[in-house]
Amino acid sequence: MNELSRAGVAEAGAEGRAGLSIGPAARGRFRRASGTLAALDIGSTKITCLIGRVESDGQLRVLSVGQHRARGIRAGSVVDFEQAEASIRAAVAQAEELADMQVREVVTNLSCGRPASHRLDVRLTLGGHAADQNALRRIVLEGRARAYAEGREIIHALPLGYAVDGTEGVKDPRGMVCETLSARLHIVDAEVGTLRNLASCLARCDLDIEALVAAPFAAGLAALVEDERELGVTVIDMGGGTTSLAVFAEGQLQHTDVIPVGGQHVTNDIARGLSTTIAHAERMKTLHGSTHAVPEDERELLPVPLVGEDDHAIAKVPRSMLVGIIRPRLEETFELVRERLEDAGLGRAAGRRVVLTGGASQLIGVRDLAAQILDKQVRHGRPPSPRGLPDSASGPAFAVPVGLLVWAATEGQIARDLASTGHEAPPGLLGRLATWLRERL
Ligand SMILES: Nc1ncnc2c1ncn2[C@@H]1O[C@H](COP(=O)(O)OP(=O)(O)OP(=O)(O)O)[C@@H](O)[C@H]1O
Ligand SMILES: [Mg+2]
Repeated sequence: MNELSRAGVAEAGAEGRAGLSIGPAARGRFRRASGTLAALDIGSTKITCLIGRVESDGQLRVLSVGQHRARGIRAGSVVDFEQAEASIRAAVAQAEELADMQVREVVTNLSCGRPASHRLDVRLTLGGHAADQNALRRIVLEGRARAYAEGREIIHALPLGYAVDGTEGVKDPRGMVCETLSARLHIVDAEVGTLRNLASCLARCDLDIEALVAAPFAAGLAALVEDERELGVTVIDMGGGTTSLAVFAEGQLQHTDVIPVGGQHVTNDIARGLSTTIAHAERMKTLHGSTHAVPEDERELLPVPLVGEDDHAIAKVPRSMLVGIIRPRLEETFELVRERLEDAGLGRAAGRRVVLTGGASQLIGVRDLAAQILDKQVRHGRPPSPRGLPDSASGPAFAVPVGLLVWAATEGQIARDLASTGHEAPPGLLGRLATWLRERL
């Protein structure tokens, strides 16, 4: 079995466990693993590769970080193979050189292909036998088969809870005797065409996909505390080309969604609104931008080099004008988030708390604006740094790559263990992608 299809088997095994381990394990204690782990976050503005390993005391250590400006990626999707390949290769090569090792397989982010969440109830007849690990795996496989939709691929099939002979609220049914075992699954799927392009692009970089993990799911693994995941919380990862959200409650990922709007749209609005270059608009946003105007903003004048004019053509605009351009875009973004949550019927499950991650969450005033529009308590999520993570990679923009590495060290490790003990299953997404690639390369 090749690398990709092995991962497809492994994923089904990992998710067939009772209660996905986004609990204490994800907070810094990890299972022992001898091998190294690699996470690749393909963002719209930056590509980040983290290489790590689990140390003998069970702690995750980051061995190296490679980063490169993203090119050929729009709203999380590959739009130019050559440019994307060059950016990914550069980020991975930097991490490889620093760690003095080669990467073959990566756990990477799912941000493209319009990921969507669905619920599905699955029932298994056990005829008076005790539920075991195998029964949980069969439920996931049955769910995957039933959830299959033309043109879509299933990325996650996560058990939200079980019912034993109709009694609901069972978190771990293993060992319980039952006639019927039912589970409600959270299915995340995405468009197959976009995923094929992602897989092809990584194949051009000589990389195999070990697993795909929904980007805001990864951000949540990095930035949430246990109680938040139990009581209900929404993570909003504010990137350059996307704003993605993940709802966690009762310790599980309940819902995920992606909106193709991010910090680059704010920058473009500024460039257009002030007739300046994208580079200067970006600088103005990060140095002087805010979502809330104060009276002094009318008097504070900011220099703006005019696009297409010579170097000396500089206009002066009041800071209030900059704020007036930034605020509507962010208001619109949070209103979209609110609508998506309401449409998903997640008013209560989404909890009273919001945690913001992603580079664009660093804009001054974003937290207050989010609190006002979403009517929730909002905090910034800075992932607690695993050992060895340099300061330059420890801000909110790195929640997704750190979360991918956490996933690799927890869920990914369990999946590898299951695969190595020969728990096989029909090929899932990665198996099918591998077949598709083999037919074309
Ligand atoms: N201090 C800051 N203030 C405002 N915005 C900022 C700041 N620092 C970074 N940003 C914005 O953050 C965005 C990049 O965030 P991030 O690195 O999380 O995105 P990405 O992962 O590359 O993209 P995506 O997740 O959408 O595919 C850019 O639009 C950038 O302008
Ligand atoms: Mg991102």
